[in-house]
Amino acid sequence: MEKLIIEAKDLVKTYGEGEGLTYALNKVSINVYEHDFLVILGGSGSGKSTFLNMLGGIDKVESGEIKVYDQDIVKFNDKQLTLYRRNTIGFVYQFFNLINDITVLQNVMLAPGARDKERAMALLERVGLADKKDKFPRQLSGGQQQRVAIARALNKQSDILLCDEPTGALDDASGKAVLKLLEDIHNEGKTIVLVTHTREIAGMANRIITMKNAQVVKEEYNDNIVKAEEVIW
Ligand SMILES: Nc1ncnc2c1ncn2[C@@H]1O[C@H](COP(=O)(O)OP(=O)(O)O)[C@@H](O)[C@H]1O
Ligand SMILES: [Mg+2]
Repeated sequence: MEKLIIEAKDLVKTYGEGEGLTYALNKVSINVYEHDFLVILGGSGSGKSTFLNMLGGIDKVESGEIKVYDQDIVKFNDKQLTLYRRNTIGFVYQFFNLINDITVLQNVMLAPGARDKERAMALLERVGLADKKDKFPRQLSGGQQQRVAIARALNKQSDILLCDEPTGALDDASGKAVLKLLEDIHNEGKTIVLVTHTREIAGMANRIITMKNAQVVKEEYNDNIVKAEEVIW
């Protein structure tokens, strides 16, 4: 049994009030084990991004707890949260979130603690984009931009990578290249939590959790893991 590294319990998040009250998360409890490739599957509006943002220390939790390596990040103050976001987790977004007026290499080196140029170049090499280092993000295709974003996330040297619809804005071929990269990264030892509405991608996961209407409705183990190159959607 792998070690339990993330224990999210009874998370609640609402928007609006009175008649307009909607639950983004309604008592969501999710565990993540070391070396998991966990896919959280659910339709649009089911609460996936809200959950991931809470795990990433981006969204405020209304109630519940999120223990990461035994520390409840819900209780963290701003300074602790900043350090947590910087050191403990990497984040990959659907629309890349690169900074457009600095170069690819500068994006990868952006975070404090990520300023080692040789390391950044090695990571760009790793994602197959060393030759694009002096380009600006808009000069790259979507798939290339996402690979830059992955290099930036890897540069944090954190053990946990959170991915929110990482292929959602990409064509099939670029999406596949990104999935292949995530598969390799997972095989090298990282823990990955990926949220998506694309059922086929869940085939890559060792664990699949399904969300619906702000709740977890299904948890399963996947004995028949599909390789990234065999994922078709
Ligand atoms: N900033 C917000 N203001 C109001 N409602 C929101 C906000 N963010 C999310 N929601 C609502 O919370 C629910 C879950 O959203 P989200 O986590 O983004 O779902 P998913 O990522 O699964 O598509 C949806 O009903 C959405 O409309
Ligand atoms: Mg979302």
